[in-house]
Amino acid sequence: MAIAGLFLILFLPLHLSINLMLLKSDPDSFNKAAHFMASFPVIKVFEVILFLVIIIHVSCGIWLQIENWMARPVRYASGEKSPTTSFSKFMIWTGAAVLTFLILHFFNFYFIRLGLVEGNPEDFYSVAHNLFKIPSYNYIYLFCFVLLGFHLHHAFSSAFQTLGLNHRIWTPVIKVIAWVYAIAIPSGFAAIAIILWQFR
Ligand code: HEM
Repeated sequence: MAIAGLFLILFLPLHLSINLMLLKSDPDSFNKAAHFMASFPVIKVFEVILFLVIIIHVSCGIWLQIENWMARPVRYASGEKSPTTSFSKFMIWTGAAVLTFLILHFFNFYFIRLGLVEGNPEDFYSVAHNLFKIPSYNYIYLFCFVLLGFHLHHAFSSAFQTLGLNHRIWTPVIKVIAWVYAIAIPSGFAAIAIILWQFR
């Protein structure tokens, strides 16, 4: 689950850097990048791995959570005294929110490419610009980006811990990077949505 999570953590900066081209007034560079991503064979392999990784990550997460619930079907009578952070306790819920977001997101973009939803797959630039003109989509996307930040914050540091990379000096550094990553990546996605909504 940790390796699958780290793969997804690497995917997001790549996705964000391509999305930055949405801010240009000329649609060509974004559309060319989207076309390249959809047609270049190496990236096609990456896409298959990405989807497998999402399925593995989600299935392991649900399995782990069910095991946790079954291990203690009756809740503790006294209040919660575990030192774990609230981020970790809500991982299943923030994860479910990110998955729900992904399904909506696929309806908005990826399913157009597959021909399942109406739209021009050669002009994702206009699809994105039109989508973020609709206030309700902005509210949903922005809300999901906040939950994505919570999920990423815990995911980042716990993935390293799961892999046994616990170190007196490096663990605090990883924790700082986790904070920076969990704030910067969702903020980047959110900034693009807000700019397309309010300023374009
Ligand atoms: C402003 C926010 C976002 C915009 C405008 C956006 C835009 C897009 C577009 C245009 C595509 C289709 C690319 C193609 O098929 O060629 C896409 C695919 C995808 N997006 Fe996003 N995205 C955003 C945020 C996110 C976030 C936060 C996640 C993850 C939590 C995400 C995950 C994905 C995935 C998994 C795909 C399918 C990958 C693929 O096509 O191979 N996106 N997105």
